[in-house]
Amino acid sequence: MENLAVTYLGLKLKNPLVASSGPLTSEVGSVLTLEDAGVGAVVLRSIFEEQIKSDGSGAYRDLEGSASNFAFEYLRADLPMQLMAEKYLDRIVDIKARVGIPVIASCNCIEKAQWVAFAKKIEQAGADALELNLYHMPVDVNESAALVEQRRLDAIRAVRETVKIPVAVKLSHHYTSLLSFARQLDLVPVNGIVLFNRFLQTDVNIEAESTYYKTEFTSSNVLHSQLRWTAIVRDFIRADIALSGGIHTGEDLVKALLVGANVGYAYSCLAKSADPKETVAAILNGLTAWMDRKGYGDIAAFRGKLRETNLKDGKGFERMQYVAAAMNV
Ligand SMILES: Cc1cc2nc3c(=O)[nH]c(=O)nc-3n(C[C@H](O)[C@H](O)[C@H](O)COP(=O)(O)O)c2cc1C
Repeated sequence: MENLAVTYLGLKLKNPLVASSGPLTSEVGSVLTLEDAGVGAVVLRSIFEEQIKSDGSGAYRDLEGSASNFAFEYLRADLPMQLMAEKYLDRIVDIKARVGIPVIASCNCIEKAQWVAFAKKIEQAGADALELNLYHMPVDVNESAALVEQRRLDAIRAVRETVKIPVAVKLSHHYTSLLSFARQLDLVPVNGIVLFNRFLQTDVNIEAESTYYKTEFTSSNVLHSQLRWTAIVRDFIRADIALSGGIHTGEDLVKALLVGANVGYAYSCLAKSADPKETVAAILNGLTAWMDRKGYGDIAAFRGKLRETNLKDGKGFERMQYVAAAMNV
């Protein structure tokens, strides 16, 4: 009998399949369904800084301009906590009271003070860990990539210094030098990085000549980029890695683990599924059957076997361009 147990962010999980953040993980009912389906842990839907601010806008306006020192910034950041965010925190308390698997909360903020204030409240509400959903469109023409990264690192460091629960950071693909940024996160230190987030897609309606948003679920076809970066980053950081994006089958999860992920996150396959129990069972049975066939008794026996260990040889995941050698021509 294969042992699927893993450790992620210092938490003990019965298996390496984690339900990723989204509408499916925002209510206690659906989280209970996912637990019953058999996932190893759940990441709650993110709460966003805009949500907090919109709810507390009146109170914000009252404070606007009345003080500018940093302590007061924190007070101002904390104000909306008593409003909309209260619901999110209550939900964490509720979910923790009723769910046995590890519960990872998630938030997406922009200002450092907001990140810190939120993180503190989330820890107090009883979340087992916190995932920082790290993205805000950099649309300041004067802010260079280095400054964006510095701003993000400052905020993450401030959160790390504030809470004792494990902290993971969910990244986007949008880094020129991801390996270097991952290493800086590791030095903070964070407990895990999630590769990668997938954003809301903005499309264009050519008749109405307007833009609109649409929800797009993935397929296994998008897995490659996550495999590449997990394999490349693995040996350069101590933090755990969660692979997110394109895990739909047991084979996909096996691939994620082989390149060095500690866990595989899944969202689209669960959101599309009419029966999450059947979907989770199919993925975990696929993993178990493969381990059985290969003679692996536990995950550690094969995890990371295909990680990149020699980044200078131009082979494996390091190869990007279609040169003759890669095409066998
Ligand atoms: C409708 C929808 C809502 C999502 N909301 C969040 C969110 O609130 N926070 C977050 O970190 N990721 C969110 N995600 C991203 C997923 O957690 C996941 O990282 C992404 O869909 C890639 O994984 P998948 O291929 O398994 O779907 C959302 C995805 C979808 C489709």
